[in-house]
Amino acid sequence: MNILIINGPNLNLLGLREPHIYGSSSYNELCTQLFAYAKTLDIIIDIRQSNHEGIIIDWIQADWSKFDGLILNPGALTHYSYAILDCLKAVPLPTIEVHLSDTDAREPFRKISVVKDACIKQIKGKGFAGYIEALDYFAKGNDIK
Ligand code: DQA
Repeated sequence: MNILIINGPNLNLLGLREPHIYGSSSYNELCTQLFAYAKTLDIIIDIRQSNHEGIIIDWIQADWSKFDGLILNPGALTHYSYAILDCLKAVPLPTIEVHLSDTDAREPFRKISVVKDACIKQIKGKGFAGYIEALDYFAKGNDIK
């Protein structure tokens, strides 16, 4: 099984950015943990991060057919990117929306996810474990295309 993991704006700053919200582990540590965990599940992962909405859309458009599922943390784009919503609706790639923080317990603008309707599942507020839960979900064969 091949799973694409895409992280949006500012997730490359994990460890530095608001550690009281996002924790003190770095983006590299997240990637290392995910590669190690995916290996135990026999899943091949490709992890990407971009600060640019259009690049994220280009990746999904170009590569969706190479993967069985997508784990997507769109960062702040979650709350306003109708372009990512349309892109997810356009391709038949089961997508799990993941957020490190509990976006429901933060500022009002974070309670809204405009991409949610194109996702099979949302996981919020579990830190790095949210990505692990998403990998487990796909590993069990749930919603695989
Ligand atoms: C986030 C939550 C978003 O509101 C925020 O803009 C992020 C990270 C999270 O993982 O908790 O960049 O997606």
